[in-house]
Amino acid sequence: MIFPYLIELPKIIDSRGNLSVVENSKDIPFDIQRVYWLYEVPTGELRGGHSHRDLQQVLIALHGSLKVTVDDGKNRQTFLLDRPNVGLYIDSNIWREMSDFSEGAVCLVLASKPYDASGYIRNYDEFIEISKNPKLCVTLLQQNAHLLQ
Ligand code: TYD
Repeated sequence: MIFPYLIELPKIIDSRGNLSVVENSKDIPFDIQRVYWLYEVPTGELRGGHSHRDLQQVLIALHGSLKVTVDDGKNRQTFLLDRPNVGLYIDSNIWREMSDFSEGAVCLVLASKPYDASGYIRNYDEFIEISKNPKLCVTLLQQNAHLLQ
């Protein structure tokens, strides 16, 4: 597991307006299978509060700003996202909390897999247990996939 880090994305500066772009595996370290976005977040509201067993994501503040606090079970860090050409890479088994959304903020999320509710860990104590041995957790999830369907 890799601790979250910021990715500087290409920015094509133009007097007509700037442009940024991401391409699979080139600008971000996975193939994108899903894109969603958070918007109209009320002032003071929190999002996230979970980890994913097997999902990589990149978060980009397309408009406005937000803070993302990430936690790998040992270390915790808060990133400010406030530029549309910077993404925050978040690996599997990282607890994340999004806060301090500015008014009108839009956060784009690029994800490596389709939506799967069973891949969420929403209990922090369970996350801490899994963070001690994330590989075992993914193996058990694959073995028990039929039980979850
Ligand atoms: P959730 O991932 O908990 O949001 P966040 O981490 O940004 O606070 O998702 C909120 C709700 O939206 C939850 O009921 C599941 C649903 N959802 C989907 O149906 N598809 C998706 O791709 C995502 C990300 C969420």
